[in-house]
Amino acid sequence: MKSTTTLCWATAGLPLTAAVTIAEINGNKYISPLSGQAVTGVTGLVTAKGPSGVWIRSTTPDDDPATSEALYVFSTTVGANLTVGDIISVDGKVTEYRANAAYQYLTELGSPRNVKVLSKGNPVAALVIGKDTTPPPTVQYSSLDGGDVYATPGGAANTSSENPVLKPTQYGLDFWESLSGELVTVRKPTVIGRPNNYRDTWVVGDWAVTGRSAHGSLTMSDKDSNPEAIIIGSPLDGTKNPTTSRLGDIAEDITGVVTHTFGYYTILPLTALKTSVAATAAAPPSTLRSTTDCRGLTVGDYNVENLAPTSAHLPKVAAHIVSTLKTPDLLLVQEIQDDSGPTDNGVVTANATLTALASAIRALSNVTYAFASVDPVSDQDGGQPGGNIRQAYLYRAEVLQLDGGGVPGGAGDAVQVLPGPQLSFNPGRIEPASEAWEASRKPVVAAWRARGAQRPFFTVNVHWSSKGGGTTLHGDARPPVNGAVGKRVQQAEVTGAFIAQILKEDPAAAVIAAGDFNEFAFVGPMKRFSDISGLVDLDEAAGIPVPERYTYTYDMNTQALDHMYVSPSIANSKTTKYQHLHVNSWASNADVVSDHDPSVALFNVCGC
Ligand SMILES: *[C@@H]1O[C@H](CO)[C@@H](O)[C@H](O)[C@H]1NC(C)=O
Ligand SMILES: *[C@@H]1O[C@H](CO)[C@@H](O)[C@H](O)[C@H]1NC(C)=O
Ligand SMILES: *[C@@H]1O[C@H](CO)[C@@H](O)[C@H](O)[C@H]1NC(C)=O
Ligand SMILES: *[C@@H]1O[C@H](CO)[C@@H](O)[C@H](O)[C@H]1NC(C)=O
Repeated sequence: MKSTTTLCWATAGLPLTAAVTIAEINGNKYISPLSGQAVTGVTGLVTAKGPSGVWIRSTTPDDDPATSEALYVFSTTVGANLTVGDIISVDGKVTEYRANAAYQYLTELGSPRNVKVLSKGNPVAALVIGKDTTPPPTVQYSSLDGGDVYATPGGAANTSSENPVLKPTQYGLDFWESLSGELVTVRKPTVIGRPNNYRDTWVVGDWAVTGRSAHGSLTMSDKDSNPEAIIIGSPLDGTKNPTTSRLGDIAEDITGVVTHTFGYYTILPLTALKTSVAATAAAPPSTLRSTTDCRGLTVGDYNVENLAPTSAHLPKVAAHIVSTLKTPDLLLVQEIQDDSGPTDNGVVTANATLTALASAIRALSNVTYAFASVDPVSDQDGGQPGGNIRQAYLYRAEVLQLDGGGVPGGAGDAVQVLPGPQLSFNPGRIEPASEAWEASRKPVVAAWRARGAQRPFFTVNVHWSSKGGGTTLHGDARPPVNGAVGKRVQQAEVTGAFIAQILKEDPAAAVIAAGDFNEFAFVGPMKRFSDISGLVDLDEAAGIPVPERYTYTYDMNTQALDHMYVSPSIANSKTTKYQHLHVNSWASNADVVSDHDPSVALFNVCGC
């Protein structure tokens, strides 16, 4: 039917398909079997109106749950003389629309004409999701994902070209597609993340879910990234969703139409989201306490998001370190910018940044931190242009010292593992010339001696390449494209091989690799890292419940991009404990200090 699209609507005799039903237009797949064709006498009940069209529901539904009984009639003028409750008959052209090649198509009725109101004042009832429909599937997104949305390579297939038959009880995207255009109600919605810049807000209703954290979010886990969630978009009545919603808030019931926009299945609510029960944003402080020696050392990890000496959020980061992390003995931080912040002027030192942070902490706590890092080569490590972000250590010198006094490496010096084991530079960067680190952060390794310890322990502070360039979990590409995953595999191999050398020298060595790995523990790069390095995921070793393993909120999922991986001697120690502190995931947009949550652990690093 390709030739029809080249004919001019106004003049040409388009092939007309007589009196089709909405179910026949939608078909039981993603792409309409009538795409591009003119249709006449499409009959439906007007269930909702928006600025650019109306939504109608079939008055002659079929009994196939895969075929949506609703349709968007796209036109800025068609709604002018129509009222919700009208049953209309309309002619038009079946159109598949998407604003971006990465998105799914939305089936619409375009160029509507011959609109006839057949009757008025008919009752309109929304379908209650999970009651009038089956509940949304909770695990799988698409039959095209091979069982795993993080399988590699992403983008092996496109939904739009494979056009699979919808299985709405098995696959989440099929479920939402099978309701395309429907007026639905979400009962007792829980807000599962902060609103985005457009105030769109992810929720789940009162249906059964998997991965629910104690605070109400849905946390992703191996092969389960929560297709049961839905984003609430711009209200149809012109009101605006709140900017202040927080993870865990309960909202009033939401009624709206299902669509696909900005790359996501979305409910456009009739009116703005309203919170009925607000969640707490107060993340409890760490309960881990240092013994101030090697028997119980506290180690924190925090991506402090583009921290410069003059950053407005610097005092708030300091407050988190003092009040919530409880001034751990050793802190691994990421995204410390140079002394001139994002000004791209060749400055790479971060003394002023780290001094400002240490001073702010001291002002709040009387705790004095020393710091250590390796300045990068300007503009070679990615991140905000000119910022020269790097990983750094803050440490309490009364509890631990850099082993051997600490002779730092330069930006180009590759730190070596020497017999002992000890490090050739302390701190030093791993293989800075490796192509694995092109436009990315080289890991910063350090060896430490804690008070009372027989042997040094080792830390690897990482910040791997971000997921930029990926596609969304709701996108056309299946499985979705996991941005820069190949880069992170390389980074896993280089970092892992270095750590393996330490453990070859001393299988009982205490080694902690922590930071922003920009990857989930159950996905390829992290598995490879664990295999090569010999380290284990501290979430596993410390028995953190799977739904509580999160340091970040993105789209519908709470998730862990930040991790600690530890050597067997630490993993098997009874002292070992671990806590994630959700100071940012639970906060409202206005109160977010960094995009990541910090974590704190307790370790015995005595080496005996
Ligand atoms: C709405 O009704 C008015 C009055 O009958 C008519 O002039 C106008 O063309 C109609 N608009 C549309 C979009 O049908
Ligand atoms: C999927 O669609 C994108 C965008 O149109 C295209 O670049 C890509 O090659 C397609 N992938 C496959 C596997 O066909
Ligand atoms: C920054 O710190 C390094 C090492 O601690 C030191 O050599 C350098 O002089 C300091 N630079 C400034 C500008 O304070
Ligand atoms: C820090 O120490 C000084 C001097 O001992 C004391 O006056 C001040 O109250 C302390 N501040 C805090 C926050 O503990």
